[in-house]
Amino acid sequence: MWAILAGLALVMSACARNAPQDYLEPAGPEARMLDRLWDPVFLVAAVMFVIVEGLILLVVLRYRARSDDEAPVQVHGNAKMEIGWTIVPALLMAFVGVGTLATIFKLSDDPERGHLEVKVVGHQFWWEFEYPEGFRTANELHIPTGRDVNLVMTAAEPDLRGPDQKVAKGVIHSFWIPKLAGKQDVVPNRVSELLLRADRPGRYQGQCTEFCGASHANMRAVAVAHTPADYAEWVRGQMEDAVHPTSGLAAEGLEQFSASGCIGCHRVVGLTDTSGTDIAVGRRGPDLTHLMSREVFAGAIFPLDEPHLRRWLRDPPGEKPMNEATGMPNLNLTEKEIEKLVAYLQTLE
Ligand code: CUA
Repeated sequence: MWAILAGLALVMSACARNAPQDYLEPAGPEARMLDRLWDPVFLVAAVMFVIVEGLILLVVLRYRARSDDEAPVQVHGNAKMEIGWTIVPALLMAFVGVGTLATIFKLSDDPERGHLEVKVVGHQFWWEFEYPEGFRTANELHIPTGRDVNLVMTAAEPDLRGPDQKVAKGVIHSFWIPKLAGKQDVVPNRVSELLLRADRPGRYQGQCTEFCGASHANMRAVAVAHTPADYAEWVRGQMEDAVHPTSGLAAEGLEQFSASGCIGCHRVVGLTDTSGTDIAVGRRGPDLTHLMSREVFAGAIFPLDEPHLRRWLRDPPGEKPMNEATGMPNLNLTEKEIEKLVAYLQTLE
């Protein structure tokens, strides 16, 4: 009884009304196309499942061995039935195949003119987005509603030497925002494209859907759709240089940030030395110029707030199992240093 209830609870959880990655409630034309294909294919599969499993059950129960039974009559070759069970599945497959191919071709249509093109790089274990204006952001893909967005994607090739002296070659990820589009593999040394469009503003959750290492499950993403006016406003904000604190704890944090390993991996646009040369130009980690304009960080697994930033700086690999060679290492910061760094990071709005 408890086992049945547990099983039911598991199945019924698929009916949740507030499921953020429910692809059966599409929010854009590409996802709707997939949903329209999914319905008839699922119907065919469901009807076949019921018929086939029903017949098996019927035969198992009705013709099971009984002690007084004689051996059943053996038959071989029934032309009508054999023709029937060859033709019916062939027709069903043709029905599914034509619908699938037509959808594949429609999905690979060129984006409309005036579309937005965003470069996407899959890292272990976070997503980087580069916009036509040149700025970069992480984990949150911001898009305008009602406009085609073409993602031009590749995976990072971290030319890093592991403890075994082998060079990591980069791994395959797959980009998926279920409410907006289907899945698309993201492969090192290759470029793949994915077209999507959102009908209405909102935050649409997604996740990496190709196993890419120990923190594959911690590689999420969010597509944030804005009205065109709000999107233009967001772009303006992202194009500004970071403003630097000049006093207090935040200024001490800035000093520490500039003098430590942070700037080797992170970028903060506008952070310069006294001669005006940019110093925070690292590419391995996320661009932090407007960190606080995001709602999530660390592969979109944590809300971006003070307690989570502290926890993260204390022990990144402990918060997010990752390959030490590719992710953020534990810098063994003191509580005082963490406090200063968090104060500085919170000025990056
Ligand atoms: Cu990236 Cu799984």
